[in-house]
Amino acid sequence: MKLLPLDRPEHFELVAGWLTRKENHQWLDFGNGRPIITPALLKIMAQRETHFMRIYTADRDDVPIGILGLNSVDRAFRSGTFWGASGEKSFRNRGYSTIASSKFLTLAFRELGLHTINTWAVDHNPSRRIIERLGFRLIGRQRQCHYIDGRPYDRLLFDLLASEHRELDEAQWRRPERSHQGAVYGERSAQPG
Ligand SMILES: CC(C)(COP(=O)(O)OP(=O)(O)OC[C@H]1O[C@@H](n2cnc3c(N)ncnc32)[C@H](O)[C@@H]1OP(=O)(O)O)[C@@H](O)C(=O)NCCC(=O)NCCS
Repeated sequence: MKLLPLDRPEHFELVAGWLTRKENHQWLDFGNGRPIITPALLKIMAQRETHFMRIYTADRDDVPIGILGLNSVDRAFRSGTFWGASGEKSFRNRGYSTIASSKFLTLAFRELGLHTINTWAVDHNPSRRIIERLGFRLIGRQRQCHYIDGRPYDRLLFDLLASEHRELDEAQWRRPERSHQGAVYGERSAQPG
C-alpha cells in the first residue's frame, strides 16, 4: 500500500468519478450540500493550503484505489478535518482504507505539524468502526444536521491528538487474504454495493 500525491490530471478525473457516486458522497460534505465534485474543483482543492489529500494504492502496483483528505486545515490552530473514500469496490473490506488512513494520519501530523485532527461520521455509517480503530475519541453528537434522501441524520464527532496517534502495523493488523480473483480494477462498475 502506498500513499501518493493527488497531482495528475487522470487522477483528478478518477477521484472525481468516485466522489460523485452517491454511495460515497452521501456520507461526505464538500460544502453547500455539493454532490458533484468535478476534476477542476479537486485540482483547486489540491492546490489550497486548507486541503491535504493523498490517493492510496493496493499492494501490487501504483493504481489508485481510494482517496484520503483533510479539509479545513488551519496552520495557526494546527487542526484539520479528516475524510476518505474507497473508490474501487473490489478492494473494500480488505483492510486497505484502515491501514492507508493510519499512515495518512502519521503523514498529516508530521508534514503539516498538526496538533489535532477531527472527523465525523453519519450516525449509522459503518466507517465509525474504522475511525475508532484509528484511535479517534468520540467527542459528541451533532443532531439532525446531515441529510440523506431528504431525511436528517446525526453526525458523530471525533478527534485525535498527535500525542495519541499510534500508526497501525500493517503486518500485524491486516489479516492474510485468500486469493481475490475477482478483484480486478476494471470490475468496479459491475460490483454490488
Ligand atoms: C468507509 C470506507 C472508506 C472503508 O473502506 P474499506 O477499504 O472497505 O475499509 P477497510 O477494508 O479498511 O475496513 C472495513 C472492514 O474490513 C475488515 N477487513 C476485511 N479484510 C481485512 C483484512 N484482510 N485485514 C484487515 N481488516 C480486514 C476490517 O476489519 C473492517 O471491519 P469493520 O467492518 O469491523 O470496520 C468505504 O466503505 C467507503 O468509501 N465508504 C463510503 C464513503 C464513506 O463512508 N467515507 C467515510 C466518511 S466518515
